[in-house]
Amino acid sequence: DKGEFRHYMMKEIYEQPKVIAACLEGRISESKVLTSCFGADSGFLKEVENVHIVACGTSYHAGLVAKYWIEDLAGLPCSVEVASEYRYRKVAVPKNTLFLTLSQSGETADTLAALRKAKEQGYLTTLAICNVPSSTLVRESALTLLTNAGAEIGVASTKAFTTQLTALLITSVAIAVENGLSAEKEQALVNAMRSLPAYVNAALLQDEHIQKVSDRFANKHNALFLGRGAMYPIALEGALKLKEISYIHAEAYPAGELKHGPLALVDEDMPIITMVPHNGMLDKLKSNMQEVAARGGELYVFADRSTNLHSEDNIIFTEVPKVEGILEPIVHTIPLQLLSYHVAVVKGTDVDQPRNLAKSVTVE
Ligand code: F6R
Repeated sequence: DKGEFRHYMMKEIYEQPKVIAACLEGRISESKVLTSCFGADSGFLKEVENVHIVACGTSYHAGLVAKYWIEDLAGLPCSVEVASEYRYRKVAVPKNTLFLTLSQSGETADTLAALRKAKEQGYLTTLAICNVPSSTLVRESALTLLTNAGAEIGVASTKAFTTQLTALLITSVAIAVENGLSAEKEQALVNAMRSLPAYVNAALLQDEHIQKVSDRFANKHNALFLGRGAMYPIALEGALKLKEISYIHAEAYPAGELKHGPLALVDEDMPIITMVPHNGMLDKLKSNMQEVAARGGELYVFADRSTNLHSEDNIIFTEVPKVEGILEPIVHTIPLQLLSYHVAVVKGTDVDQPRNLAKSVTVE
């Protein structure tokens, strides 16, 4: 039932405050991440020295964000790979490595094959972050953290992605606590997590503004998404969403790569979407934006108000709520979901059932 919404995708975008709260429920206390959420075998948190994350598509993008969190908060090396690559190569597995899969459906053929291979490779243990409790992936993994997003009907994943990120943040903090994260820092992170549903709600308030902005994309054939740090995977996800449902060719680059090639594409017909994080990288990103503006590119900037960016000649500004840096990848996802949704509606594509795609990819 779509309720008041025209499409399942929009209904699911609007469910995110609720399902993120459901994902946090019982996993954090007033001051701590509750390791009991990993079940009786949470002892792996003490032993893990390395993390390998394997997934496909949108779930892979969630994994890329987690690499920033795990290396930053826990100081442990983390690598992320798409399952279709992982499953067919010889993999070096350092001792005490956690094998972590991400899957909305828990039935993705490549991800299952990767898990089956990993079980022969001497990993510390296998953990699945998944939205379907009865899935094959959950059944075959040693440990599970459910995302609790409820059924997702729209083929383009929205709430399944942001709850994967939430579950990954819980996991990253739990691992970090065993690797020297102070009680004070943990408390601050838990406080931030508790605010997430409200932040996502605040991000949704830009819906009407984003709908207006999206009209400008109706006649575009290409788009370039730029982000730095943990916002780079969010740029990848924004580009994937736009491709999937509006069929506009979109690519994402780490902003620093602009000069190394993609700048050649920039002209008046190329919209550039930038996710501006509120951290030390702001100045660098601003200089990338100038490079684009100087070539007549149309800049769409998503940032919080404290960045002092605003709409002017070459900039179309969308405000994102100001949040703790660790949460920025989750909160910045919301306006990009809304953008791709509204562009698809303007173009008249089948939002919930994009051509050529299936919700669950059970064949290779
Ligand atoms: C895109 C999307 C896909 C899936 C991918 C993996 O919106 O949903 O890229 O993420 O097919 O599926 P799961 O997460 O079920 O393993």
